Amino acid sequence: MTDLFVSVAGVKMKNPLIAVSGCFGFGREYDEYFDISLLGGISVKGLTLKPREGNPPPRAAEAFGGCLNSVGLQNPGVEAFLRDELPFLVKKDVAVIANISGGSPEEYGEMAGLIGDSVDMLEVNISCPNLNKDGVNFSNDPRSAAGVTEAVKKTAKVPVCVKLSPNVTDIASVALACKDAGADALSLINTLLGMRIDIETRRPALRMNTGGLSGPAIFPVAMRCVWQVATATGLPVIGMGGVSDGLDAAEMMMAGASAVGIGTALFQDPYAPERILRELTDWCEGHMVDRVSDLTGSVEAY
Ligand SMILES: Cc1cc2nc3c(=O)[nH]c(=O)nc-3n(C[C@H](O)[C@H](O)[C@H](O)COP(=O)(O)O)c2cc1C
Repeated sequence: MTDLFVSVAGVKMKNPLIAVSGCFGFGREYDEYFDISLLGGISVKGLTLKPREGNPPPRAAEAFGGCLNSVGLQNPGVEAFLRDELPFLVKKDVAVIANISGGSPEEYGEMAGLIGDSVDMLEVNISCPNLNKDGVNFSNDPRSAAGVTEAVKKTAKVPVCVKLSPNVTDIASVALACKDAGADALSLINTLLGMRIDIETRRPALRMNTGGLSGPAIFPVAMRCVWQVATATGLPVIGMGGVSDGLDAAEMMMAGASAVGIGTALFQDPYAPERILRELTDWCEGHMVDRVSDLTGSVEAY
């Protein structure tokens, strides 16, 4: 039997599968399909200091091998999360990760302070491409990424994982800046900035014109980013982006991920975590893997 236990920056998880932020809400709806305690961790919908309605519709569009979204962080705000959603999640046997977004380093720091040690880990989302018209965010530049990381580390009471964008030329330099600023772990990738146009109306498919591409189409990009960041920083990495089955999860761990996120796959199959866990376990057992954590970074690169 393969031991599925993993630890990410000291956060213990009974298996490496994490439901990613924005694709799992606060877990309640999916708990009607399967017991969400089967997951190793849950990263909740991106939180902001104040409630947000998100962007105007249409804010989702299909794409080959995935989807585009421009939801724009619709959420009830951090206080409502702590009051109304967290009590349900902490009853589950799962690591709870609070995904936070802010407009300035100070705002991120304030949120980290409010959340304190009520969750197991903070995931600092500096990479949402849907907050303004050009998709620019703190993760586009090493200095601004470091500034947010530093501000969060000052007030955080739990390990801090910084979530990176693939929409940069050199993701390793952003990752290293976050490491130098004190990040305990890194998660990647957020969505790739994309666009579709309805050729009959000649209008963009999304009201924001552009949006974030996720799903199987981005898997090779995510693999490359995970490998580059894990190799450059040596920090624990939560890998995500287009993981569809247990073999993808094994592949992403070999690239350097300590845990693996599942997002868009849930839209196609709400039972995806159950299936992916079974497939990963079967693969490990068929290949005499004693501990799933032995897969992490085990690629022998040329
Ligand atoms: C509809 C939607 C909403 C998302 N919302 C968030 C969010 O609030 N915070 C965040 O850090 N990432 C958010 N993401 C990005 C995902 O967490 C993940 O990084 C990305 O979708 C790649 O994984 P996937 O291909 O498995 O979906 C969102 C993605 C989608 C599709």
